[in-house]
Amino acid sequence: MSHDDYPTDNPAVVTCGLPYANGDLHIGHLRTYVSGDVFARALETLGQQTAFVSGSDMHGTPVTVLAEREGVSPDEVALRYYEEHRELFPRFDVEFDNYGHTDDETNVALTKEFVRTLDEEGHIYEKDIMVAYDPAEEQSLPDRYVEGTCPYCGAKARGDECDEGCGRHLEPGEIEDPRSTITGNPAEYREQTHKFFRVSDFQEYLQGFIDRLEGTDNARNQPREWIEGELRDWCITRDMDWGIEYPGEGAEDLVLYVWVDAPIEYVSSTKQYTERVGEETYDWEEAWKESGDIVHIIGRDIIQHHTVFWPAMLRGVGYNEPRAVMASGFMTLNGKGFSKSRNRAVWAEEYLDEGLHPDLLRYYLATNGGFQQDVDFSWEKFQERVNGELVGTVGNFLYRSLLFAYRNYEGTPDTPLSEEVEHRIESAIDDFGEAVNDYSIRNVGNAAVELARYGNEYIQRNEPWKLTDEDPERAAQVIRDCVQIAKAIAVLSSPILSGKADDLWSQLGEDGSVHDAGIDVALAEPPEDFGEPDELFGKIEDERVEELNEKLRERTEAAASDDEEAEDESATDDFQPVSDDRISFDEFQDLDLRVGRIETAEPIEGADALVRLEVDIGVETRQIVAGLKQLHDVDDLPGTKIVVVANLEKAELFGVESNGMLLAAGEQADLLTTYGDAEPGTKIQ
Ligand code: 2FM
Ligand code: ZN
Repeated sequence: MSHDDYPTDNPAVVTCGLPYANGDLHIGHLRTYVSGDVFARALETLGQQTAFVSGSDMHGTPVTVLAEREGVSPDEVALRYYEEHRELFPRFDVEFDNYGHTDDETNVALTKEFVRTLDEEGHIYEKDIMVAYDPAEEQSLPDRYVEGTCPYCGAKARGDECDEGCGRHLEPGEIEDPRSTITGNPAEYREQTHKFFRVSDFQEYLQGFIDRLEGTDNARNQPREWIEGELRDWCITRDMDWGIEYPGEGAEDLVLYVWVDAPIEYVSSTKQYTERVGEETYDWEEAWKESGDIVHIIGRDIIQHHTVFWPAMLRGVGYNEPRAVMASGFMTLNGKGFSKSRNRAVWAEEYLDEGLHPDLLRYYLATNGGFQQDVDFSWEKFQERVNGELVGTVGNFLYRSLLFAYRNYEGTPDTPLSEEVEHRIESAIDDFGEAVNDYSIRNVGNAAVELARYGNEYIQRNEPWKLTDEDPERAAQVIRDCVQIAKAIAVLSSPILSGKADDLWSQLGEDGSVHDAGIDVALAEPPEDFGEPDELFGKIEDERVEELNEKLRERTEAAASDDEEAEDESATDDFQPVSDDRISFDEFQDLDLRVGRIETAEPIEGADALVRLEVDIGVETRQIVAGLKQLHDVDDLPGTKIVVVANLEKAELFGVESNGMLLAAGEQADLLTTYGDAEPGTKIQ
């Protein structure tokens, strides 16, 4: 079944992945929210009825771990961050029609209804499984309370996700070499009864679904392997207090796994929207149960949840299926991962406190690379995009045209639009529509920027300033055309430059908001009169970039030295006890440890942490895959001497063979190296 092109007659629902209510948001987080907002606004501009919804993810171990650290209750932490996020999004013009949370009444009730229905339909069963347990704390270790090794790719993983390797969801009991994150002790496995959702009931359905699914390629391709292989059932309960109680028999002490109630919030949030505006304005049931165009915008680390578990749940309760999943690439800051603990981030709040306009960041996030590509942020790159495209192309065209129009005609010259420009605007409108249908946020932005580029070329080619005396009619024609181009730019750029497009709208003497104008308004006649325009965008000077970089550096360094002090104070507290199981010298001798030198290093496309290294170990050059992407500057790695376990079995990580392993210390993967000048190949003994 292929879908009708947008705009369709269906109500659309655009959702953004729910942020966990456990921390401040940085500009990396904003990428999917801004993109969601752009996509929803673009659909509305095309004339499609759209609800844009999200909410806070309140449950699960991401919240309880923080609550315990702060010594407060999980609901206190979660509500605090819910409020913080809810207030922050509109400051970036991310205007959800409804922003709820997973612990609110609507979602608790709807989640229970979903689970009851799945149970009644026979998709839920009970099973005894082995779950990680910390004997010292006498408690189960769900999800983030346990760490170990991913059974699929060998990367370091946490309870329910292989977050540094293959990205798979991990079921309770699957992680190898489990260790409690509470005490650092090795975890035991103990038997417990849990509820399972029989995802395998939906295997055939999911195979068809993935063929119909639209969105980004990664969201369609990555799940095929899971859907076509053996589809494992999904444990939907957890032994903890915080969460939605299991609504049935046999699991009274358990709560639902956070990933059950989280996506249901997409529905609950839409329902709350209908409750507020009335079903004549937006009917959530039509959208979710009948004919809605449901588009999920997420980070690529949660593709499996949105393309396997979630559509199976929707199918199980008889709801409509997602039409598209758009999964964004990873975001880095100056080439390295964002890090909360090291304060290596540009915090969303901080960006605004610097007095920077939200639209500049919206533009950067929405148009820098394709949506599924990894994107790096640096103040220099930000400056380049702002000064080059927004100031140089868009702002320059608008200011020179509108100023000329104001000075010579006090508004729009009274003459019809030329055919050439009418066609060019029509083609920009087509590009805009195509971008939406291709789920290309970047091309939504390009439609406006390319039109401005054309505008600059058009005004330059026609030189109206030379024509005012010698050919006033022709001069009026050129400026009439330019004002229309400016108006079209306001409409076409409005999804991304939400505030600036409205400023431009007023400069053009238009009433109301450009956000209420449909796409066709791009070709509607502009007002006769308007006032003197202002420059829409200001240049970012080099000194400003230096200042912003300096602030970031100071903060990162301060956080690093705080960390060191904290580490000194806590001394051995954080370390695991030394194992009592001694090995013999012969056993140690079995390890073939060699000095190696990294020759080349390149990030593995699609993997959040993995890097492919060519390592010279004297006797040969080895390909080794290591989880270093977020912890080291990949470009700095070549030339570094390291220690390699040369006789380790080969492994495959993210589809790439790793022939050996390098040694590194601790969470930050501090690379072991040599003190003197031992050559690659030298044996370590
Ligand atoms: O990974 C996360 O940050 C989750 N809080 C996303 C949940 S999205 C959902 F609702 F499905
Ligand atoms: Zn893995």
